[in-house]
Amino acid sequence: MMETWRRPLGLRFREGVTWSLDANGAAQLTSSSFSPVSLGALPQALLTAFERLGAEGPTIEALAEGLAEQDGPLAVATLLHHLRRLEQLVLLAYAVRDVKTTIAVLQPISPRFSLGSGAIDPERRYVLSRFAYQRRVGEGLVLESPRCHALLRIEDARTAALCFALARPTAPAALTVPGASLEAMSTLVGLLVAAGFAIPAEDAGGTEEEQVFELASWSFHDLLFHARSRPGRHSGPCGKTYPFRDRVPPPPALRPPRASTDPPILLHRPDLDALRTSDRPFTAVLEGRRSVYAQGRVPISVEQLGELLYRSAGVRAHIPATPECCYDITMRPSPSGGACHDLEIYLAVDRCRGLDSGLYHYDPDAHALSRIQGRTPEVTTLLTDAAFATRHTELPQVLICLASRFQRVSWSYEGISYSVTLKNAGVLYQTFYLVATAMRLACSGVGRGDSDLFCKAAGTDYYAETSVGELVLASRTEGDEP
Ligand SMILES: Cc1cc2nc3c(=O)[nH]c(=O)nc-3n(C[C@H](O)[C@H](O)[C@H](O)COP(=O)(O)O)c2cc1C
Repeated sequence: MMETWRRPLGLRFREGVTWSLDANGAAQLTSSSFSPVSLGALPQALLTAFERLGAEGPTIEALAEGLAEQDGPLAVATLLHHLRRLEQLVLLAYAVRDVKTTIAVLQPISPRFSLGSGAIDPERRYVLSRFAYQRRVGEGLVLESPRCHALLRIEDARTAALCFALARPTAPAALTVPGASLEAMSTLVGLLVAAGFAIPAEDAGGTEEEQVFELASWSFHDLLFHARSRPGRHSGPCGKTYPFRDRVPPPPALRPPRASTDPPILLHRPDLDALRTSDRPFTAVLEGRRSVYAQGRVPISVEQLGELLYRSAGVRAHIPATPECCYDITMRPSPSGGACHDLEIYLAVDRCRGLDSGLYHYDPDAHALSRIQGRTPEVTTLLTDAAFATRHTELPQVLICLASRFQRVSWSYEGISYSVTLKNAGVLYQTFYLVATAMRLACSGVGRGDSDLFCKAAGTDYYAETSVGELVLASRTEGDEP
């Protein structure tokens, strides 16, 4: 607790933690994120220390000052014991001051936070983690990282300037931040290292983040998305909290029909009762499923498209909002997080018997296609990109584009909405794959697609209806049976 590097740190209760005395005079700590912790009856001097932790953020030395004279030598040991306990319970935040100004506060954001050692070697070079980033929260600036269980509140431009300086490996002794004392900067570097925002920069070959495969293989945005879309490494909301319930009505279960100059193309609806007996056995389909890249000479037909779409994605039932689920839902063959069914299905068609080349939107309720575009250059580029990604030597007969009406998910989910959308896309992929296999069609997933290009082609808003996944669909080559 009294390691030298920690001496200048100001201690305060973590944000959201309050303390009070219960009816028996026992000190209690409460916050929204944990059940109350009782510290029992404490001597007055400790209660005064707690008062200060809730206010000015004193150093340990300042807290201990006078305690020994006032309450005897045991009092300091008791203080340290309680501070250690508060620290283990992740109830403390750590402030750095330059002279009298607080320039940064480290706030733990997960129960797994533990402050490492910030004992730095002034001659050794340190560098900001490549996962650390600054962003505005309200009217403040924070430093965050998906590798850290805390965030740093940047309370002063000198802290931001230090982060800038640490973009290059720098030894604390060589740091020059205008207007900042070397002592404050060294304390701050120590705190950044102790929390994981800065790491030693090894002279040869970069930091462990670049060298160790398990870390080097995570891109910044992948790790950030992972860490923030699952509980554990942050204190943000995560789950079905209905964040927009009081602001806007839920987006409808079905997308309003697309405006089209052409009448809707009603699709062939397969006889599901007949299929229940005549279809290929489930195990044969599951075991026969493969990504099939070769496309048949005779293109897929619009009847086959109709069957595939109905079997994979057609609406089977409507369920209006109830007290248990406050928004309308539909039931379809695939599962969907919160039954949101946010994914709209678009078809970029190169060649399909009975359907002109162009871009179409599938209405899963009417089981019909609306033509959005003819064969525009954007439609060709969508098809070309997919051919490139799947190493097709010719354009896909049909490219299925899945576009998320994201607000359908984010209206009810918080923190995990995009990950739910991507899971929904994965689920729909598999359903398309299996139905295509049952129908002896060729299907293959596509790992990447240009969402801006899709939005331009489809005339949708990037933020309201953006493509999140693509699949190639085609007839099979003759004799190529699964
Ligand atoms: C999400 C996802 C993305 C994929 N992206 C591509 C791709 O871009 N190019 C490609 O050739 N295959 C792609 N595939 C197909 C995989 O390569 C294929 O599933 C894998 O090799 C296993 O073979 P199988 O599907 O025949 O079992 C993708 C599959 C999935 C599920």
